[in-house]
Amino acid sequence: MVVAIDGPAGAGKSTIAKKLAERLRFTYIDTGAMYRAVALWALRQNVSWDDMHRMEQLAIAAQIELSPGHIRLNGEDVTEAIRTPEVSNGASKVAVIPGVRRAMVAKQREMGERANVVMEGRDIGTVVFPDADVKIFLDANPQERVRRRLRDVRAQGENISEGQLAAEMKERDRRDSTRSDAPLAQAPDAVYLDSTPLSLDEVEETILKIVRSRVTNGKDFS
Ligand code: DC
Repeated sequence: MVVAIDGPAGAGKSTIAKKLAERLRFTYIDTGAMYRAVALWALRQNVSWDDMHRMEQLAIAAQIELSPGHIRLNGEDVTEAIRTPEVSNGASKVAVIPGVRRAMVAKQREMGERANVVMEGRDIGTVVFPDADVKIFLDANPQERVRRRLRDVRAQGENISEGQLAAEMKERDRRDSTRSDAPLAQAPDAVYLDSTPLSLDEVEETILKIVRSRVTNGKDFS
């Protein structure tokens, strides 16, 4: 079973997808972390963002392992290293490159075929798993998304102003939703959920209800 959660930065996808996966005992897959890992490698290797061929090679060669709470790139734990604003920005740039997306999508499909998953990203319901059992498009208003992201990055010790973060998020959302290959978009059959006025528990309960309503084979995913 695949539960696909797509939406813009700061909508609350990671928090909710993690909780849902725990609750359902599914595997949680953060696809943004995979693009971030490729961006981190590219930054370390000084590969230019315009070098599409080299970027694709890195994406194909990258050994990315996801385990609860951790991500490894070529054997190294990069869980914290991929959360800097520089890597956020880079991830959105490498994600424009079709060859990079092909490599990531192949890895993501493999993961989704091996286990029941809650997978979050930008193109899960539209491209990676167009036949996902449950598709959610999670959104929140821009000010709220900036507020949430600011809390997260400050908790990680990053010193960034609200104005700077807002500008970076706006640019990233623009790039993510206007690229020609698999832009951020709501799948026609996805449920749109605005998390702005909702608590985390309310979002979780709403999605769980949708998951339960789609489970027809008697399994208890509660
Ligand atoms: O979810 P995130 O902020 O960690 O994602 C980082 C970037 O990766 C985001 O700006 C766009 C890209 N991304 C993507 O293009 N497709 C996905 N399925 C997930 C992320």
